[in-house]
Amino acid sequence: MKVAVIGSSGQLGHDLMRILPAAGLEAIGFFGRLELDIANAAAVEAMLESHRPDAVINTAAFHHVDLCESRPDDAWKINAVAVRDAAKACQKRKILWMQIGTDYVAEGWPGCQPIAETAAVCPKSIYAASRFAGDCLTLAHAPEYGYVVRTCGLFGIAGCKLKGGLNFVDTMIAAARAGKPLRVVSDQIVAPTATDTLSRQLAALLEHQPGPGLYHAVSHGQCSWHEFAQTALRMAGLTVTVEPVSSTAFAAAAIRPRYSVLDNARLRTVGLDLMEDWQKSLQRYIACKYPPPA
Ligand SMILES: NC(=O)c1ccc[n+]([C@@H]2O[C@H](COP(=O)([O-])OP(=O)(O)OC[C@H]3O[C@@H](n4cnc5c(N)ncnc54)[C@H](OP(=O)(O)O)[C@@H]3O)[C@@H](O)[C@H]2O)c1
Repeated sequence: MKVAVIGSSGQLGHDLMRILPAAGLEAIGFFGRLELDIANAAAVEAMLESHRPDAVINTAAFHHVDLCESRPDDAWKINAVAVRDAAKACQKRKILWMQIGTDYVAEGWPGCQPIAETAAVCPKSIYAASRFAGDCLTLAHAPEYGYVVRTCGLFGIAGCKLKGGLNFVDTMIAAARAGKPLRVVSDQIVAPTATDTLSRQLAALLEHQPGPGLYHAVSHGQCSWHEFAQTALRMAGLTVTVEPVSSTAFAAAAIRPRYSVLDNARLRTVGLDLMEDWQKSLQRYIACKYPPPA
């Protein structure tokens, strides 16, 4: 099976490019918007014609959550309209279209159960609304070939391209090593997810194709960003204090969900939930990227 990866220079894309071949799938990467802009529908169609992939994974998005508030046109263009056009182009050619989505579309309440695919969504920002539209447009325009896989709090070796190659874990470790005071929100609950585990999960979905539609794929377990930071720093051997703060302490432009832990209910139903506890993924990540000095 030949798989085109849009956004292969990103955090998830980087791991997909090594894990898909290890799973016996051929991967063709499109680094970023300079090589193939997802918002250029003609270029996406030309790519499908020239490479004739069996599947496309779209890791690209306008996912600067706060910037989406001041650039709504770009958010809708990249996260919704471009996704619709690409999903349609794939459906027409019988190519599997796998759209990576986000936990930001959902919100529960502190202490509630993880949110399944069947639960109502609650987008509270331009970012979340535009991503939810992209999910819906995928399902509407690629009813037989569209997969939407929502995930959360990614960390991977390549780091988040949007954030200059750093993910949350890297940012915390860099700040701690620089002796900066650390203040992290303790009232947003998430399921931090490693991009290598997620890539294996996506490979399994491609291999087994249990049916189009919406899937949640996040780590098992949950934590606040504060607990995530503390755990990462402890695993990296850094003894520093992290001050827990409320979301209101940061004047962010976009509202974040207070509880966006997704339940991999559909993956479990089809017997394909390969995700693991977030602490286990984090331990492996820290051991690989921040090994103790020899
Ligand atoms: N990071 C998280 O914590 C998180 C949480 C939940 C969901 N997600 C979702 O997971 C996906 C992957 O995230 P990530 O952390 O791997 O992101 P990332 O590291 O920022 O990578 C995004 C990739 O997409 C490319 N890209 C951006 N705009 C593009 C465009 N218009 N056309 C083509 N390529 C474009 C980027 O390259 P250029 O910049 O060079 O164009 C980069 O290769 C995204 O959909 C994201 O919203 C991420």
